[in-house]
Amino acid sequence: MEFHGTMRVNLRGHLEIGGCDVVDLAREFGTPLHIFDEDLLRQNCRRFHQAFVHKYGNAEVIYAGKAFLTVAVCRIIQQEGLGLDVVSGGELYTALKAGFPPDRIYFHGNNKSYAELIMALEAGVGRIVVDNFFELEVLARLAEERGQKVPVLLRLTPGIEAHTHEYIRTGQIDSKFGFTLPNGQAIAAVKKVKEMPGLEYKGLHCHIGSQIFDVEPYRHAAEVMMAFIEEIRNTTGLITEELDLGGGFGIVYVEGDNPPPIEAYAEAIMAGVCGEAERRGLKVPKVIVEPGRAIVGTAGSTAYTVGSIKEIPGVRKYVAVDGGMADNIRPALYGARYEAILANKAAAEATEVVSITGKCCESGDMLIWDVALPEVEPGDILLTPCTGAYGYAMASNYNRLGRPAAVLVREGQADLIIKRETYEDLLRYDVLPARLK
Ligand code: LLP
Repeated sequence: MEFHGTMRVNLRGHLEIGGCDVVDLAREFGTPLHIFDEDLLRQNCRRFHQAFVHKYGNAEVIYAGKAFLTVAVCRIIQQEGLGLDVVSGGELYTALKAGFPPDRIYFHGNNKSYAELIMALEAGVGRIVVDNFFELEVLARLAEERGQKVPVLLRLTPGIEAHTHEYIRTGQIDSKFGFTLPNGQAIAAVKKVKEMPGLEYKGLHCHIGSQIFDVEPYRHAAEVMMAFIEEIRNTTGLITEELDLGGGFGIVYVEGDNPPPIEAYAEAIMAGVCGEAERRGLKVPKVIVEPGRAIVGTAGSTAYTVGSIKEIPGVRKYVAVDGGMADNIRPALYGARYEAILANKAAAEATEVVSITGKCCESGDMLIWDVALPEVEPGDILLTPCTGAYGYAMASNYNRLGRPAAVLVREGQADLIIKRETYEDLLRYDVLPARLK
């Protein structure tokens, strides 16, 4: 299994993250437990900052909060000099409560509500990324009513295919997101913005997909967008100051995953943008990227306690843990793969191949099919690395399981950043009408 960040095996033969023994963490905070490696989280931020902002100057990295957002995460993102991409009133609220500077917030979403748009305008978010004609009209009206000039980016669907799971692919034409570029809707949107006194055209956005292992689709996207920026200049005279190329940078989940380094993505993107700018006589726009998974994915792991073990001789050994699809829906939803390590037997050799299942009441609740581990026994602490992105963020209370706690670990110190949901919490929103009492 690949070790990430500060993961190592300590003298007790236990797995350690951020200088904390995972077995001790499990005992202290209970399981399932999300463990975030603060050093690795910050290192991921710094690598992006270095590869884009430091190297090219006119660039910005904004963290896609949908991958995992809490007030503590907002603080770290802010300290590391990143901006923030939010997609809902809830994410925006989290960021504002954390004291995140509103002007560094980009507000995305294909169906922002009236209330969400007002919230964003009141907060003074840096950019609203307008997704469709309906939103354009609503936002323009709100801005005028409030006497505001709102800086916007337009989200486009550039018609680029990147090879990734169908549900997490967004750049192709048949998509719910954005103004379609090839059929003329995108240019129509730009012309509309130009006529709207409440809106200020700043630039364009696209996002071609997620967990992409190839730099070529990014270069391609950059080129297609730059060609459109020329068309905008020629037909409207508008200057595009900002080009946001979205997120989607791949990470290693299991052995054999082989994403290019962050620096290679940066190079391909900047080559595409700068090359086309020169060829077309355009000003190089500020380039923005929105990594979510690549910031937080490898930095998070989940520790579980092993419970029942069912062996079907000659067929399979099922090892059940105390979480499952409620805290990590990705295997069930996308066929996502993970590795596992027994934290209390981290130095032991693998001797058997088992499958890791959750405790939810359905057969699809599998975390890992076929993983080689040392002999597994009830009470072992099993850790799945790389659950930092879209794990807690997509967690549910299915089967009325409380969502796990999360801790931030660094140099031997573990701090709670999300409390474990209790039974009481689960009842918090239940209402018993008087006539049922
Ligand atoms: N920007 C936009 C506009 C996006 O839609 C997304 C992800 C990102 C940035 C960040 O993408 P990332 O760098 O994290 O790949 N739940 C799925 C992933 C859905 C991604 C949706 N949009 C999963 O668990 O794989």
